[in-house]
Amino acid sequence: MGNFRQADIVSIGTCVPDTVLTNSDFEKMVDTTDQWIVERTGIRKRHIVPKGSPVTTAQLGSKAARVALQKAGIAPQRVDGIICATVTPDTFFPSTACHIQALLGCRNAYAFDISAACAGFIYGLSLAKNFILAGQGTNILVIGSEILSRFTDYKDRATCILFGDGAGAAVVRGTGDEHAGILSTCLGADGTLGNILYCNAWGENRTMVMEGREVFKNAVRMMIDMSYKAIAAAGLTIGDIDYLIPHQANIRIINAMRDTMKLPQEKIVVNIENYGNTSSASIPLALNEAMADGRVRKGSTVLFTSLGGGLAVASAVVRF
Ligand code: UT7
Repeated sequence: MGNFRQADIVSIGTCVPDTVLTNSDFEKMVDTTDQWIVERTGIRKRHIVPKGSPVTTAQLGSKAARVALQKAGIAPQRVDGIICATVTPDTFFPSTACHIQALLGCRNAYAFDISAACAGFIYGLSLAKNFILAGQGTNILVIGSEILSRFTDYKDRATCILFGDGAGAAVVRGTGDEHAGILSTCLGADGTLGNILYCNAWGENRTMVMEGREVFKNAVRMMIDMSYKAIAAAGLTIGDIDYLIPHQANIRIINAMRDTMKLPQEKIVVNIENYGNTSSASIPLALNEAMADGRVRKGSTVLFTSLGGGLAVASAVVRF
């Protein structure tokens, strides 16, 4: 392990379950319409692990991580750490990251989960960078993996139409080049707003509860604040940002950020129509598409931002 000055996102892998729920499927389940869902959220379909399926959060995460490792050309035994962001673990313990370590054969890696809801992937990037700079690893897997369908109330039309399942993983690697890589990460939380978006661990009701409008308002405000902090911490200005990759929660939240920050539409990466809100997997799922189609490439400066239950919020500026 070296004395690294910076940490890079080397590769991204993703995995979504095959089963798809479309808006017309929801028209048969709750009192809603395709038109309402598209206009109010931007979502057309989401991938779901079917009820009763044995598929686990760790399996989705390990498949995404395996792809990321293959793309980076890194063997599992060269992974020094696995950080998994999830709010839908398969077991309270072992952590999902430990399950993933076993599935991948990363026998030299430390492994633990973080709970920062939709902000979890960016929290994970921040931890990975700081571990690397502190000398605790060269190659770290940061994974966001969620099976939100297991905690969704399919009788509540205001929430059930929003969420999808999936996983995304990044290989984060130490580098000597200070000018590229994870330039800044800014993390925050407002625990006083925990009651507007939560899921109980105990008791009768263990499905997600959300006050949509309150979350919406705070999401726009807090993600914009944190984005400007991350841009400043990177020593940049908004004009230096080539792409904004926001958490894919609601197209109207994304559009409100775009308008307030005066960003042109072509700088915003959006794939919410195909996946819905996949919590910690949403940013790597969007980043993967933008890398695959050549928008995000070597030299691109990208702003990530996300907010979720907690409320937990995070932004990062990454130069590829
Ligand atoms: O990952 C971060 C966490 N989540 C978020 O960021 C989500 C943030 N919030 C939102 O995305 C939006 O608030 C929602 C999509 C959840 C709701 O949209 P909204 O425009 O804020 O709607 P609303 O809650 O103000 O409800 C407006 C109306 C209500 O009817 P009434 O009371 O005006 O008659 C709702 O009952 O829309 C109704 N409604 C629906 N109608 C048809 C709520 N859900 C639906 C639905 N289909 N699925």
